[in-house]
Amino acid sequence: MKILVTGGAGYIGSATAAELLDAGHQVVVFDNLSQGHREAVPPAATFIQGDLADRAALAQLFAAHPDIDGIMHFASYTLVGESMQQPLLYLRDNLVNAANLLEAAVAAGVRRFILSSTANLFDDPAKMPIDEHERIVPGSPYGESKFFIERLLHWFERIYGLRYACMRYFNASGDTPERGEHHDPETHLIPLILQVALGQREQITIFGNDYPTPDGTCIRDYVHVVDLAQAHILALQALDRLGSRKYNLGNGSGFSVLEVIEAARKVTGHPIPHVVGPRRAGDPAILVASSETIRQELGWQPRYPDIESIIATAWEWHRSHPQGYTH
Ligand code: UFG
Repeated sequence: MKILVTGGAGYIGSATAAELLDAGHQVVVFDNLSQGHREAVPPAATFIQGDLADRAALAQLFAAHPDIDGIMHFASYTLVGESMQQPLLYLRDNLVNAANLLEAAVAAGVRRFILSSTANLFDDPAKMPIDEHERIVPGSPYGESKFFIERLLHWFERIYGLRYACMRYFNASGDTPERGEHHDPETHLIPLILQVALGQREQITIFGNDYPTPDGTCIRDYVHVVDLAQAHILALQALDRLGSRKYNLGNGSGFSVLEVIEAARKVTGHPIPHVVGPRRAGDPAILVASSETIRQELGWQPRYPDIESIIATAWEWHRSHPQGYTH
């Protein structure tokens, strides 16, 4: 198939573009490079620099590629913390950009859509691990913006017959030898820890150790970016057969911030000093996914089920790219 990947210069989008190409698909990447990196786009993909806010650019894109079979939509503002400071980047821009994309897609006759969604839909889970039946309580304007887009998709299915899958990831992590996690500024735990191991930062600050967890630090479910990419490809291939779907994506086991630091010490051989700071606003204590639905329906099986192997892949990329991408 020929797949349009928005945000294909970003961390998860570029990894998925590479896996799509390896699986024999054609890929068109559309990215404004506001957060992504040109070097992250796989050379075999067609790259178009453009903005989803620009409806004329979208019309041009679909006119130039009338044979697009499906869309994977990653382009987005993605930070929980930032969304609490600048809510309209999320509640307006993420929504409008997705609406523009969907409008152009249905006008061009595209009927397959895979959404990069989030575990931030589940701020008040009744049970752990969190499955797809959990009540939706967005934890931030970021989570709310993804919920808006899930609702857009619901109506686009009813009205235009679009088929979609919402991929709600827990903590995307890990790298490949060619592509890695590089945000500016970096806010994510694993790359920050690895910056300490590289000597670029003195210590890691743990955001609170008074949570109701065994060691007092927050527990998250870390899932490798290549496993996420594979889940997207499986979901795309099953859309025509199964219809629209929602999948929670994680490994099903949680690791505390202290456990992640300890695993990184083992992988890197560096002592990785830490200090404890105040809680970060908006962080829930525990988020662990049940991914039974996608395992059963699509046979998804993560290749990297444990935190040490995930960190080892990230360490390999960060060691060979100490400054990250240069463009
Ligand atoms: N943390 C620290 N110190 C740091 C950075 C993070 O203690 O310097 C802690 C956080 O408090 C959290 C954990 O490490 O408990 C993971 O934090 P990240 O910032 O790496 O990731 P988040 O869990 O905040 O968010 C990520 C994605 C979101 C997504 C969410 C879903 O960035 O887009 O996972 O679980 F919504």
